[in-house]
Amino acid sequence: MDSILITGGAGFIGSHLTRLFVTKYPKYKIVNLDALTYAGNLENLIDIEKLPNYTFVKGNITDLDLLRKLFDEYKFTGVLHCAAESHVDRSITDPLAFITTNVMGTATLLQVAKEFWKDNLNEKVFYHISTDEVYGSLGTTGFFTEKTSYDPRSPYSASKASSDHIVRAFYHTYKLPIKISNCSNNYGPYHFPEKLIPLCINNIINNKPLPIYGKGENVRDWLFVEDHARAIDVIFHNGKIGETYNIGGHNEWTNIALVKELCKQMDEKLGRSSGESEKLITYVTDRAGHDMRYAIDATKLKDELGWLPSLQFEEGISKTIDWYLSNTKWLNEITSGNYKNYYDEQYGI
Ligand code: NAD
Ligand code: DAU
Repeated sequence: MDSILITGGAGFIGSHLTRLFVTKYPKYKIVNLDALTYAGNLENLIDIEKLPNYTFVKGNITDLDLLRKLFDEYKFTGVLHCAAESHVDRSITDPLAFITTNVMGTATLLQVAKEFWKDNLNEKVFYHISTDEVYGSLGTTGFFTEKTSYDPRSPYSASKASSDHIVRAFYHTYKLPIKISNCSNNYGPYHFPEKLIPLCINNIINNKPLPIYGKGENVRDWLFVEDHARAIDVIFHNGKIGETYNIGGHNEWTNIALVKELCKQMDEKLGRSSGESEKLITYVTDRAGHDMRYAIDATKLKDELGWLPSLQFEEGISKTIDWYLSNTKWLNEITSGNYKNYYDEQYGI
């Protein structure tokens, strides 16, 4: 039986990935290690938490002793490393938290995998889940390929770039069997409402301002989160050791066009008159060092492993809005308590 460690499985992408692996591979033993920071939520996994091939461990990826204990106990053959501090705005106010988890946490995991994986390296995979933000910012044309030089601009992206380099160093130096993927912006159910799409859905529901940084002209390439999880599955099982794969949706939107689309769909779903939610749009001070445009060239993944996104954006965003409208309890629980302090400090509107 394969035994797989997923880190950060209680977060947004991690919960979709954990659900996919636990349900699709009943013969794999899946251990989800998550520190349950503000972004980790076991409610995200309530439908699978009792399945016999799933175990949750609360703990931190920087905890060397805990990692050694887990590797010893579960004899992992694979690691899907998702845990991270993930929000750019928070990295601007607290960069050290990002360096601790994303850099030191990743290095600690690699160190323990190296200690325990001495034999049968061809049966092991250390998969590091990373972001397109490591490549920096594009102008109006061009795409990030796997060969694009790293040029991170925020403490978040610099910490992820740093972790990517350390993962590659363990491959080249110690022959640790690694794989890396760099994905564009995800959206979908269980997305924490500090990120643009769920923040706006929540604020439209509650008739609160929709904060748009700068002029709203920055561009992101959006991918439905289940398509990201499928891509990770394909790469984990069929990708080449030592390789990097870009994952993206070929689905670029300026922030303002995206938020207007959300407003349009939500007016229809909430029975509001056309144009009502758009009135909530509020331009606010731009994010410091705000990257202008991200766009992924995912040709390698398509040509080598046959992966393509399954959902068109309009369908994906409609499904996502429906999920939030049917899960107001999840949303309300998350946006009570500390969330309110974060929101007030970040926006003050
Ligand atoms: P998230 O913030 O929703 O979840 C992160 C999870 O990691 C949470 O469950 C949290 O509790 C856990 N965690 C944080 N620090 C930890 C620590 N020190 N030890 C153990 N667990 C810890 O993040 P996400 O958006 O799901 O992103 C997951 C991964 O995917 C990250 O590595 C991120 O860089 C990458 N990524 C995200 C996106 C995106 O659009 N969200 C796109 C590309 C790549
Ligand atoms: O590209 C992948 C990355 O996508 C991931 O690595 C990150 O973990 C993830 O958070 C995401 O980063 P972004 O900074 O692109 O996502 P965010 O949802 O924070 O912002 C999307 C765009 O919307 C960005 O241009 C900033 C803008 N924005 C965001 C917020 C929260 C606003 O205009 N207003 C807001 O209130």
